[in-house]
Amino acid sequence: MDHEALILALQRGKLQLEGQFAAGSNTTFLARISANGETLRVVYKPTRGERPLWDFPTGTLTRREVAAYQVSRLLGWELVPPTVLRRAGPAGGGSVQLFIPHNPEDHFFNFSLADQERLRPVVLLDALINNADRKSGHIFLDAERHIWLIDHGLCFHREDKLRTVLWLFAGTPIPPELLSSLSCFVEQLNPTAPAWLALKKLLRPAEIRAMLRRAQALLAVPVFPMPPTTRRPFPWPPV
Ligand SMILES: Nc1ncnc2c1ncn2[C@@H]1O[C@H](COP(=O)(O)OP(=O)(O)O)[C@@H](O)[C@H]1O
Ligand SMILES: [Mg+2]
Repeated sequence: MDHEALILALQRGKLQLEGQFAAGSNTTFLARISANGETLRVVYKPTRGERPLWDFPTGTLTRREVAAYQVSRLLGWELVPPTVLRRAGPAGGGSVQLFIPHNPEDHFFNFSLADQERLRPVVLLDALINNADRKSGHIFLDAERHIWLIDHGLCFHREDKLRTVLWLFAGTPIPPELLSSLSCFVEQLNPTAPAWLALKKLLRPAEIRAMLRRAQALLAVPVFPMPPTTRRPFPWPPV
């Protein structure tokens, strides 16, 4: 299935629940989607299953999941599995993300040094989307050792909220090839561009503008962010 067909299948294919994840703070289902004679495994988060939080408006987390996928794609880094918003589902509208088979024991805290070295784009993505909850267990490898990232409900806040286990590059230079992806990203994001219009359906304009400011700040001073000293820099629990 090509990318376009995959996105359409996630949006419109017939969705059947298979089970529910016990871990996690929001209602999250494992489900199956059938489309064009193929079956896909997906993770379905109904918007009405979101647990209310004090700092993020309720009912916006599933949109943030989709926005994180779109930003990862605009950067040209295949880090977030394809994720869409679905209007309807067995538990109502919500986000649907391709399920990535993986060994749950094989996450960042167990990465080899060589795999850790591949994490710079991840750190940059999290700085850009202002990820307030980058846990180790949500950075994992598939059978081909491709790095995948999941769980992006707590991203894109206007205020700085970066909380992550990934401070390993703090204060070191951002490599030039990542900076050029970042400049391309910034060029694609102006209020008349398709990328902006797509993100506007998912985030508030002020949240998109805040992301652009973070991108411009990273381009102006191209070093990976340092941990904050005035708030907790790590998510809890860290895995
Ligand atoms: N795309 C995915 N591929 C494989 N497993 C996933 C995927 N998305 C979520 N999961 C599994 O579902 C669990 C709950 O998802 P998570 O995004 O952490 O939910 P929550 O919104 O409650 O934080 C994860 O810990 C992981 O085991
Ligand atoms: Mg979570």
